[in-house]
Amino acid sequence: MSEKSPIGVIGVGWVGLVSAACFAELGHHVWCRDIDAAKVESLRAGRVPIYEPGLEDMVTRNLERLHFELEVGPLMEHTRLLFVCVDTPPTYSGDADLSRVEAVIEDLPASSEHAIVMKSTVPVGTGANVARRLGELGKGELGYASNPEFLKEGSAVVDFMQPDRVVVGADERTPWAATEVARLYEPLDCPVMATDVASAEMIKLASNAFLATKISFINEIANVCEEVGADVGEVAAGMGLDPRIGGSFLNAGVGFGGSCLPGNELVIIRDGDGERLSNLEQLFGEHQEQAVTASDGAGLSAPSGLEVLAWKDGDPDAQFFPVSTLTRRPFSGHAIEIVAQGGRSVVCTPDHPLIIQRGETQFVLAAAQVRVGDRLPAVRKPDERDDEGVLGGRTGRTPGVSSGAVSAIEQSARAITWCLVGHVREEPFDGQVYSLEVAHAQTFVTGGPFGLVVHNCFPKDVSALKQLAGNSGYHFQLLTAVIEVNELQKRRVVSKLKKHLGSLVGKKVALLGLAFKPHTDDMREASSVVLASRLQGEGAIVRAYDPVAEERAGEMLTGVAMCDSALDAVEGADAAVIVTEWPEFADLDLSEVKNRMGNPVIVDGRNMLDPQAVREAGFVYEGIGRT
Ligand SMILES: NC(=O)c1ccc[n+]([C@@H]2O[C@H](COP(=O)([O-])OP(=O)(O)OC[C@H]3O[C@@H](n4cnc5c(N)ncnc54)[C@H](O)[C@@H]3O)[C@@H](O)[C@H]2O)c1
Repeated sequence: MSEKSPIGVIGVGWVGLVSAACFAELGHHVWCRDIDAAKVESLRAGRVPIYEPGLEDMVTRNLERLHFELEVGPLMEHTRLLFVCVDTPPTYSGDADLSRVEAVIEDLPASSEHAIVMKSTVPVGTGANVARRLGELGKGELGYASNPEFLKEGSAVVDFMQPDRVVVGADERTPWAATEVARLYEPLDCPVMATDVASAEMIKLASNAFLATKISFINEIANVCEEVGADVGEVAAGMGLDPRIGGSFLNAGVGFGGSCLPGNELVIIRDGDGERLSNLEQLFGEHQEQAVTASDGAGLSAPSGLEVLAWKDGDPDAQFFPVSTLTRRPFSGHAIEIVAQGGRSVVCTPDHPLIIQRGETQFVLAAAQVRVGDRLPAVRKPDERDDEGVLGGRTGRTPGVSSGAVSAIEQSARAITWCLVGHVREEPFDGQVYSLEVAHAQTFVTGGPFGLVVHNCFPKDVSALKQLAGNSGYHFQLLTAVIEVNELQKRRVVSKLKKHLGSLVGKKVALLGLAFKPHTDDMREASSVVLASRLQGEGAIVRAYDPVAEERAGEMLTGVAMCDSALDAVEGADAAVIVTEWPEFADLDLSEVKNRMGNPVIVDGRNMLDPQAVREAGFVYEGIGRT
């Protein structure tokens, strides 16, 4: 028996498995529970199902101290501290989905000997809610502590073993739990911040928000650098030498997310003049006074007093929610038209997120990934049956109608129903497209009184920020700007490609790197997904290579040809885009790359290549924020 206290881990994904392996490395027996039987079996055999540097070796080395279980019983028998590391993905409303955390709480038996230690990233207030729920379930004596995780995929093992800080939030009912958690980290020789549960939860969310702000800040600086002929790499290096600023998270890049709808798409709005139908073009025009616009017509407005019919996850009905931002930009390429039950339809850019139900599961997917047979939420028509009129044409919307009154019967019928998708098709588009950002609901209803609910235009990978800003009911202006900057940044890769290739229709574009960062195969929130959809929407043929994420990426990137090497991906390509800064891309044989490419254009989305060397090798080089 080990001298060190045994530890329980519930959920062995990235955070759980890394934590378990590292605690085992520190000499603890670790009893892990996961509900995924295949994962448990694989881990029992010493096979690590995720790619994370150093993890497989560490698991193999400590296999005798690592116990993988499908039931919670052995954890209760052998351990006292139960680290909860289950996933808390964003729901389509932008909140964290706490259903796995709730399932864990339901599963645990009553005990005064055990404590839940929350490592999953959860909204502020979760600790208090869990304590209340435990009381309701007659398990009020179970202890609780918050121990947020700051590890970064790709360097998770090192981050765990050499942390900058450990944060432990104590629940005043059971302070012993936090004391025992803090003791576990003593061998790591790092600052341990002891605080209350709400502050610990807030430290994690505020840290995420601040890092995103830093990225958006340097991306804005990069854009100015391009205008004035400065090099953002040098600028960031110079800034980073100031310890008050710090050098990390100052790498300009391709940002993430973004998507829009044409100007004739209808929404139902409510403002000083009451409720009415308006199309997006007209709406933007009405709020142009508050807009900032650029020479190409792109603009952004923060309207006041404007609400739009939208739907909040879980509500039975659609309701009015405030519009925080309206944007407009030029778009030329292929738009996606989705026609669903009852003739409802929407046209949007291929990367526009949509809430869909596929089988039993709900997702938020880019429009380009939606299939016939998926279901989309919509406002129910009076007397409508769930299986009515699936494959009709687009009768629910009235092209050309720019505004109008909403009749009383339409106003009263706002229950949500799920409509089967009958057609998905591409159509050429050249003109201005518009986006709408709706606070709280994160969705809006398009196409008229009985229209489809679509997701907000901005991306979901800032869900931590949305939790912070939206759920508290606080309008966090700085973070709204952070999200918008990230949104605009994403478009720059496409404009850079168009600058050199003209129209992207039929052009072959190679994406080098797909994972959301190097040294991981995690594709959740990867910008490559949005970029690939956007390129396909512009009519480009997309080929891609990632050293480790190919399998996971293949599940998410419809219509993208996966290649076995970078050289294979650039074969015949009109341009190559570096999306993830895998070190092997720095060592590419440039003359071989040039031989293989049909047209030597490289967009270095991560500023990882030496511009001079690339140009000397005969390429057109585009970095981000450098000339
Ligand atoms: N991945 C990261 O870089 C990172 C960093 C810091 C914090 N976090 C947070 O840590 C948490 C876990 O993230 P992850 O990336 O490790 O998730 P993951 O999806 O990789 O792993 C979650 C695991 O929990 C298991 N699980 C789900 N419900 C369960 C239940 N009821 N009982 C037992 N096991 C269950 C799943 O099968 C899965 O193996 C999230 O809240 C995340 O936001 C993640």
